[in-house]
Amino acid sequence: MTDAPLLEVQDLTKRFGGLVAVKGLGFAIRGGEVLGLIGPNGSGKSTAMRCVMGVDPPTSGSVRFEGREVAGLPAHKIARLGVGLVFQHSRPLNRQTVLENIKVALIPDRLSMILHSEEIDAKARAIAQRVGLGAVLDRKPPTLAFADLRRMELAKALAQHPKLVLVDEPFAGLTSSEVGAFSELISEFRSEGRAVLLVDHNVKSVAALVDRAVAMYLGEKIAEGTAAEVMRDETVRRVYLGGALTRAQHEPARVAQDGPPLLEVDGVEVRYGKALAVQGVSLQVREGEFVALVGLNGAGKTTLFNAISGLVRHAGSIRWNGHSLAGMTPAAIARAGIVQCPETRELFGDMTVRENLELGGNLLSPTDLAERMAWLFDLFPILRDRSAQVARTLSGGEQQMLAIARALMMKPRLLILDEPTLGLAPVILETLSKALHRLRSTTGLTVLLGEQNITFALPHADRLYVVEHGRIAWEGEPERFEEEAAEAYL
Ligand SMILES: Nc1ncnc2c1ncn2[C@@H]1O[C@H](COP(=O)(O)OP(=O)(O)OP(=O)(O)O)[C@@H](O)[C@H]1O
Ligand SMILES: [Mg+2]
Repeated sequence: MTDAPLLEVQDLTKRFGGLVAVKGLGFAIRGGEVLGLIGPNGSGKSTAMRCVMGVDPPTSGSVRFEGREVAGLPAHKIARLGVGLVFQHSRPLNRQTVLENIKVALIPDRLSMILHSEEIDAKARAIAQRVGLGAVLDRKPPTLAFADLRRMELAKALAQHPKLVLVDEPFAGLTSSEVGAFSELISEFRSEGRAVLLVDHNVKSVAALVDRAVAMYLGEKIAEGTAAEVMRDETVRRVYLGGALTRAQHEPARVAQDGPPLLEVDGVEVRYGKALAVQGVSLQVREGEFVALVGLNGAGKTTLFNAISGLVRHAGSIRWNGHSLAGMTPAAIARAGIVQCPETRELFGDMTVRENLELGGNLLSPTDLAERMAWLFDLFPILRDRSAQVARTLSGGEQQMLAIARALMMKPRLLILDEPTLGLAPVILETLSKALHRLRSTTGLTVLLGEQNITFALPHADRLYVVEHGRIAWEGEPERFEEEAAEAYL
């Protein structure tokens, strides 16, 4: 570690119209240091990173890189000085292969030429190998597993040999072993003398990795120190960490044991080309039940949900309330009461928060719609504050909250939640947890949850299914899960 900071940010402010997203922020990072940036959703973490990188020009303040003022320079100039950014959302070139994507990052200006250069090819292969993409070099991004997409983003940032790497939510959606592998890569950057600014909501992994942490709230720095010091801070606990998730405080749901299940999936198979993504899956969900499907990325949870929602063709039978869903359109299935909140969010980016919610509630009477919206704004107050903002510009966690709120606007009988914890601050997870409890006890909502975050799934679930390679590998009650299957997943 050298003494002069590599990056020094002072009094950084970023306004969007009337909103001050970052307010007088200051911090410094030295070479060979990993600094964690934590804070609730919408606290300005991604905006601060984008200002450092020049993707968004700061409104005021100073950003010094190796002693040189770079605030206001365009992103490509800052990149050339040695700063790399790994975005919260991947934006690959979908028609190019993984290898080509990395090559483009190596020399962004000369696309046509480089596709033939051997030296570039060798470099790109070496980087791919290093981040663990060796086996998928010739695949196109849309066919990649989620973790591989994140690896490719990291590879693209590495291609520029950055001295400072800004990484936004590298762990979101990764399994614990993938998080381990990513953490190792980031530790390697440190031992090579690079500096890393890391944003993530996975508190455990951030704490294990960073040398220091800065906590933000409403655009301002509220704490700084070692990870342990920051996590102990009273304000940080209140606004970010909340309490720990505990086992359901509510009465166990009154689940009707007689009569047919509300949802009955029997021997369902889904193929993508030759690959069997879901193989002979059977499961039941009873009225009022909370059923969790746990399993790694790519295990087939989303595909199964898409089959239930009528979005992909399947073999086998899916019955709802005793009737087959075969031949029904996704819209008709949603009207029948099955509403899916997709992992990919599927928001209307150019519409405002309010408009997205209104669309979700378009089948409700005006009074119902207004009531429901008010309830959801109480649940996620930040959505009320941002109600006139277009969805595209929301922070990662705000978008996730909006997707969940929009699904709830439809007053579903069965709510399918696919990875709702992605990108949410611990304190928001707690809010969501409580809201789901409340909804179940007051409205009899039935929930089918897909999660790899078992800590979130376990306290809620009446029953769990473990999905592995497109099959159900285990099913049972949470208590038995902890005894029999938890070790492999926690
Ligand atoms: N272009 C924009 N126009 C208006 N508001 C914006 C714009 N970009 C961001 N914001 C707002 O600025 C605030 C900070 O957003 P930012 O993305 O930096 O949050 P974050 O700390 O990264 O949150 P998360 O953890 O949810 O990703 C948010 O409330 C967001 O809605
Ligand atoms: Mg963010």
